[in-house]
Amino acid sequence: VHSARQVVLVASKGERFLKGEDMKHIAVLEKDGANGVSIIVGRDGLIHAVGYDADIQKKYCDAEFDRSLDASGMCIVPGLVDGHTHPVWAGDRVHEFAMKLAGATYMEVHAAGGGINFTVDHTRKASEDQLLKDFEERLRRMLRCGTTLVECKSGYGLDVETEVKMLKVMEKAKKIVPIDISSTFCGAHSVPKGKTADEAADDVINVQLSSIKALMDSGELGVDSIDVFCEKGVYDVEQTRRILQAGKDMGLLINFHGEELNYLGSAQMGAELSATAISHLEEVSDEGIAAMATSNTVAVVLPTTAYILRLRAPPVRKMIDGGVPVALGTDFNPNAFCLSMPLVMHLACVNFRMTMNEALCAATLNAAASVGKSNSHGSIEVGKVGDMLVINAPRWEHLIYQLGGQDHVIKHVIRRGDVV
Ligand code: NIG
Ligand code: FE
Repeated sequence: VHSARQVVLVASKGERFLKGEDMKHIAVLEKDGANGVSIIVGRDGLIHAVGYDADIQKKYCDAEFDRSLDASGMCIVPGLVDGHTHPVWAGDRVHEFAMKLAGATYMEVHAAGGGINFTVDHTRKASEDQLLKDFEERLRRMLRCGTTLVECKSGYGLDVETEVKMLKVMEKAKKIVPIDISSTFCGAHSVPKGKTADEAADDVINVQLSSIKALMDSGELGVDSIDVFCEKGVYDVEQTRRILQAGKDMGLLINFHGEELNYLGSAQMGAELSATAISHLEEVSDEGIAAMATSNTVAVVLPTTAYILRLRAPPVRKMIDGGVPVALGTDFNPNAFCLSMPLVMHLACVNFRMTMNEALCAATLNAAASVGKSNSHGSIEVGKVGDMLVINAPRWEHLIYQLGGQDHVIKHVIRRGDVV
């Protein structure tokens, strides 16, 4: 890519994530007179050089390139990273959207047997082929919205067969869609009918996790993280701790749902276990924020969910000022049907009062950190994957500013050097 007007690196010094004031000052290389900015991606798919056109021309000759892309007048940002999705499921919940618009709360729908349990019924019945077909289409829509790395959770099985079926669908998708997937096992997403939360936690630990470990050991599954929906009426803090610890003991990163609808103190518990990330956090306390800052636990905040369920906004400003690395995700699921990180960044700016720099950092480097992949993803730096977006505007901020305009604003999505 050559002659770009702006190249947003996000980080330029090998940072694992940015926090505090650093989230405001992301690194940008600007065209200087006629001298634009170039990025060289090698045949290995990794970034080999970033710099002014004139300097790059001294190092490489044009004949060395398989292809080149002229970005005159345009801007380059890193490929977006979606830090939280539930994208493998059957059976939409458009009828519940109507119930919620009429005044029902998320937990009222859940307690009446709808919500996650509705999706579990449909996902258990669906074939692997059907799940894969719908998942693939969702991933392609995400790619068109600029996402090049996405965290994907299981959790609509709640039994070993269906949880494994979901994780296998993710494994297959990794081979057919040009997007990077970080898989999360979320067998403790809800308490299945007929079990108490303690019995369900035992099943997750003794039956589901041990089957998944065997499939990981044989190379059939690649799973990165473990998740639990820690919430009043779902899994309490002690049950959550037990499940997360079991996952951690088998080498998974801890990345769970906490402090969403009710304050339970799960942020402090997560920090004690050195959780990589905690999502939602609308109800997190000052003590929770302090604990997460000390353990460098990434806060994955989800503006679509807060918006759709009309929850209060998580205390993002307090978290950033308190030194917690903040990341963003779509939370794509049948409750929050959103595949677009540009829309999420826009909502984060308006409803969570983040600056555009903070939102971009949260949607790239920090989201990559939330899945333990910020050494390879999330910024335009030599040695990282060549994943980037060509923005069809004179300043990169149009990606956030043009609400819903991503079709026009994102000119190209580049993954490992290939336009996809
Ligand atoms: O992140 N809170 C729990 N999990 C999802 C919702 C999943 C569902 O409703 O199907 C969330 O919002
Ligand atoms: Fe979620």
